[in-house]
Amino acid sequence: MIKSLYIHYPYCRHLCNYCDFYKLKQTPEQREHQEKLFQNYLTSSLKILQEKVHEEYQMNFAPLETLYVGGGTPSLLGASGAKWLQQFLKTSHLNFAASGHEFTLEIDPGTMTVNDFETWQISGVNRYSFGLQTLDEKLIEVCDRKSKMSDVIETLELISAQDVNFSVDFLLGIPHSGSRHLESELKRILTYRPKHISLYILNPKTNYPLKKFIPEDEWVANEYQFVDEFLSSHGFRHYEVSNYAIPGYEGKHNYGYWFRKNIAALGPSAAGHYQYGDNQFLRYVWKESLLKQEYDLEILKNDQVLLENFYLRFRVAENFDLDVFQNLPPKESSKLVGLFSDWAQKKYLLTCEVSSKTQYQFTPQGWIILDSLMKELLSRIKF
Ligand SMILES: C[S@@+](CC[C@H](N)C(=O)[O-])C[C@H]1O[C@@H](n2cnc3c(N)ncnc32)[C@H](O)[C@@H]1O
Ligand code: SF4
Repeated sequence: MIKSLYIHYPYCRHLCNYCDFYKLKQTPEQREHQEKLFQNYLTSSLKILQEKVHEEYQMNFAPLETLYVGGGTPSLLGASGAKWLQQFLKTSHLNFAASGHEFTLEIDPGTMTVNDFETWQISGVNRYSFGLQTLDEKLIEVCDRKSKMSDVIETLELISAQDVNFSVDFLLGIPHSGSRHLESELKRILTYRPKHISLYILNPKTNYPLKKFIPEDEWVANEYQFVDEFLSSHGFRHYEVSNYAIPGYEGKHNYGYWFRKNIAALGPSAAGHYQYGDNQFLRYVWKESLLKQEYDLEILKNDQVLLENFYLRFRVAENFDLDVFQNLPPKESSKLVGLFSDWAQKKYLLTCEVSSKTQYQFTPQGWIILDSLMKELLSRIKF
């Protein structure tokens, strides 16, 4: 059964030069036409998904526990788009679970009004993810954002006045951030009482014009460590490589990705993932076009699943033991134990004994170099 859905809305008012997500420019003149195109796309791609993938692999939607509308800038849909989406879900028999749901909407500075909030709330949104990036006026410009500092503050004030659950995206590794004062930015953000903070490290698209001004890895690692200490001492739990939450406010939708739940996806570039049998997994990715409702589908191989299991389990702040990787040959398992013990000595990992089994959990020091740790693992363990 599928209890989670991701919808990708690709339009933005301006295409920020660092962004590597699939997005298209929206202009006021084209808005109506583009929204119609998106609506038609969603309607027919859902039909295709159900007729082709769900039927073939015997998958079905259950009442939704999580819905995530990301982008792009889905807050541009506005009140009329919120109503359309509500109707689309209803006519498609995609209801929310009676036991409760999490419906997240990504919003950009300067794209929401009080009326929009009220309409989205009625449509079922109960969590907002705000693309803040930075509260440093100079760095907002470096990030090539359409919004100014005044838009960011105005939207923060608007969200906190609505008294709703919200997360902010905070970006590290921004070019020219030598004089950035992280502590005052974070203190100011916390005055608006977000329950969740996603912390990203800039990883720009190719041909990024400011590439040579991106700070050194060591600088970024220090920023990451600073944010970790600051937020941990202000009531937040660093529960995943890039995510902090006040306990109880962790994002449920993303947990689904890290724990390999079935997540359906609609929208250009969106990726869905299902388990359709014992240890049998598939992934599909919609093509990057609103004109073609086509997708690439891949059946995951056993070694691919195993490798991804590593990567996913390493990301979350929860203990795991070697049973998670039970398909690993015994010889490789014992090499893995040796590798983990090296990493524990370097404080990349914590270990503890539970019912005479060793359990592991990565530390922020390990997370910041997770990619190079994965390379080391791949060079030493055979799958
Ligand atoms: C896809 S964006 C959508 C949010 C919204 N449109 C906005 O810009 O505020 C989600 C988040 O991804 C992050 N992001 C975008 N491009 C990135 C990049 N090249 N490297 C790291 N994070 C990036 C930003 O923090 C952004 O808020
Ligand atoms: S960062 Fe957000 S607003 Fe900027 S181009 Fe990417 S999706 Fe659009």
